[in-house]
Amino acid sequence: MMLDNPAAKYRPFVAVDLPDRQWPSRRIEQPPIWTSVDLRDGNQSLIDPMDQERKQRLFDLLVKVGFKEIEVGFPSASQTDFDFVRSLIDNDKIPDDVTIQVLTQAREHLIDRTFEAIKGAKSAIVHVYNATDPMFRRVVFNVSKPECIQIAVDATTRIRQRMSEAPETNWTFQYSPELFTTTEMDFAKEIVEAVMVAYGATAETPMIVNLPATVEVATPNNYADQVEWFCRHVNDREALIVSVHPHNDRGTGVAAAEMTLMAGADRVEGTLFGNGERTGNVDIVTLAMNLYTQGVHPGLDFSNITPIMREVEYCNQLPVHPRHPYVGDLVFTAFSGSHQDAIKKGMADRRANPDAIWDVPYLPIDPLDVGRSYEAVIRVNSQSGKGGISYLLEQEHGIELPRRLSIEFSQVVQEVADRTGKEITSQMIYQAFADEYLGQTMPYALVSHRLSSEPDSPKVSLEATIEERGERHTIQGEGNGPLAAYIKALAGAGHDVEIIDYHEHSRGQGADAEAIAYVEVRIDGKAVFGVGTDESITSASMKGVMSAINRYLSSQAPAPNVTAASLA
Ligand code: KIV
Ligand code: ZN
Repeated sequence: MMLDNPAAKYRPFVAVDLPDRQWPSRRIEQPPIWTSVDLRDGNQSLIDPMDQERKQRLFDLLVKVGFKEIEVGFPSASQTDFDFVRSLIDNDKIPDDVTIQVLTQAREHLIDRTFEAIKGAKSAIVHVYNATDPMFRRVVFNVSKPECIQIAVDATTRIRQRMSEAPETNWTFQYSPELFTTTEMDFAKEIVEAVMVAYGATAETPMIVNLPATVEVATPNNYADQVEWFCRHVNDREALIVSVHPHNDRGTGVAAAEMTLMAGADRVEGTLFGNGERTGNVDIVTLAMNLYTQGVHPGLDFSNITPIMREVEYCNQLPVHPRHPYVGDLVFTAFSGSHQDAIKKGMADRRANPDAIWDVPYLPIDPLDVGRSYEAVIRVNSQSGKGGISYLLEQEHGIELPRRLSIEFSQVVQEVADRTGKEITSQMIYQAFADEYLGQTMPYALVSHRLSSEPDSPKVSLEATIEERGERHTIQGEGNGPLAAYIKALAGAGHDVEIIDYHEHSRGQGADAEAIAYVEVRIDGKAVFGVGTDESITSASMKGVMSAINRYLSSQAPAPNVTAASLA
């Protein structure tokens, strides 16, 4: 049960004292060194840890995406990890420009086992950690501060020695004061400096110090303050590559990574889509794409994001959320009518200025840049409006509804959406459109027509065969054009209609191209739309008029007395 007074159980985070902090006014202008910990931290958090096949597939994917540092496992803690690391090295699976990283606890026999796992690697980072925060020192390990430092120094000395025994490998050393963000800052500095001395870190042979937010416990500005404080106070900053390793317990792992980069970090450890212990490690895809939207190339390639997501889902056996930034199945989709309308206008503006800076409403990024298509951007349900419906008809069926018709037709679709309560696919929209306008052949249908004209006359004569409930009649008329002649012919047969508005365009291409005509007519004082399609534009317009008459008649009961109307 939630407490009335949570302060009785939880204490607020105590911020580091840094009144002259510089990071808030900085910008991230270049990508950090990216290190994937999918195969270690990510794997440790899975219900079913990856087998060799899944590990290899994920490793290959990480290489393809462009990671140059990949933590491949915790070989002293797991035989599967040990075997995997060995198989990467023995089967020469690591590209020359990729450095593998392995994690070990700060214990001699585990360090030795780790070195067995990476023997023969061309380039490797050995990453050792021990917990430095006061609660862990007291509750978990029962060690004093000097004892805690000694553990780290002994491990570093051992690693240094093992490295010198294998000069064929290009070594890098990494130390993590685990739980850095809940460690006293002066103690974090003290233990890191002791490790630096034990390793002999210099500007020429720097070591990586990884400052993890093992559990995210405060707003991300606090982590940034701690990183800036550390970078400004630690001895010999140039001998360090400062790395951050945010977890996401408060849901602000991405913000924390960004702010710590502003605060001076050089490197970020994280996972694809944020898999990892509890609420996850920081999500490198989001971080990278955030940079990209600021005009900074992240140096990782997510141009075909969907197959990457599917592969990671397979390897982790965990789904990526449909609303995951930049990636989820629904993130480039608008259901709301006002959003659809704005996106539609933005896309039209974009088509007119394809090389301009991206400025499309509601879309922070061009879906094409990550291999997604525009077709899926707009989807229709009961929350949608005419914008989305006409967009789908236009994009997927080549039907460009005039504005008033689009308003009218949206009510037809809304009725289907309200009735079903489900998403309306573009096929369903097309079917509703065809039933409502194109399928209107009762009681009247146009069977055929013939046009003729005298050489010097502007007039056109038309003879048409129409079917009325299966019975054929011939009607005749004359006018300034085929449609006017047809209207005259209909008037002669007692069907007086006035054309209010008319639009036409062709639909499809090549041999499959056809004309589509949208006709708005007034019958008996009432405005009605009709739509016709045909290979010939004249027939399409005549069918459009027939569709309007039939729709008018079916809306009347009893049958109407069609009155005279003026013809243009
Ligand atoms: O979250 C963490 O602190 C870790 C360390 C091992 C770096 O994963
Ligand atoms: Zn971690």
